[in-house]
Amino acid sequence: MKTFNKLRQGATMLVFGLGIAGFPGPSSAAPEGSAFNLPVETVADYLYALIEADREVYTKHVVERMQSKGVVVASENWEEKNTLPLPAQFLMESGRVVAKKGLGLQYRLISLWPINKRNGASGEFEKLGLGTILTHPTKPYTAYVKEGGVRYFQAIYPDLAVAQACIGCHNSHPDSPKRDFRINDVMGGLLIRIPLQ
Ligand code: HEC
Repeated sequence: MKTFNKLRQGATMLVFGLGIAGFPGPSSAAPEGSAFNLPVETVADYLYALIEADREVYTKHVVERMQSKGVVVASENWEEKNTLPLPAQFLMESGRVVAKKGLGLQYRLISLWPINKRNGASGEFEKLGLGTILTHPTKPYTAYVKEGGVRYFQAIYPDLAVAQACIGCHNSHPDSPKRDFRINDVMGGLLIRIPLQ
């Protein structure tokens, strides 16, 4: 596995190269055998952008649209009631599908005040990370960890109460241990874990 510094170096060269050559077309791909590395922080940022885009599109164009047209609502017990999964459940489901692919890649929502106890902070990194993003909600909390002989990069991105619906539902949910969320509060975090070998 490349060291972190090598990854960084690779990215600097990549940016430099792009700066000179402009946007490379298919014919100007990296020469064979050359490493085309990105810092793992950037990879995590890309994944975060994708996951959040899917969550937003699902919320806006599926859940809200179907609900406002009176077709179908989203509800927690969607499997039994034949409704749509809540956006948080949709995200967790796709995270479980990714986890099964054997890539070592993982993502899920976690919180210090979870509605679903399975989404509580487990371990030092998650507790520390969720505590830190409460006071620093503009950047992810990151660290390198080793588990079962494998090194991982982990990042917890702050998950904010961006809409009234977030706090309305969480503050009134019978299983929620916190009932005074306000708009723009950090409600939890999106944990992304990337294997490094
Ligand atoms: C209609 C109710 C509802 C709405 C609206 C809602 N949530 Fe949730 N949220 C839930 C439920 C239920 C879970 C637990 C899902 C599971 O079983 O994993 C959850 C899970 C979460 C979690 C993981 C920790 C936990 O509580 O289990 C976070 C973080 C979260 N939601 C943030 C948000 C944010 C941010 C918004 C708004 C963009 C939002 N939620 C909107 C019901 C809701």
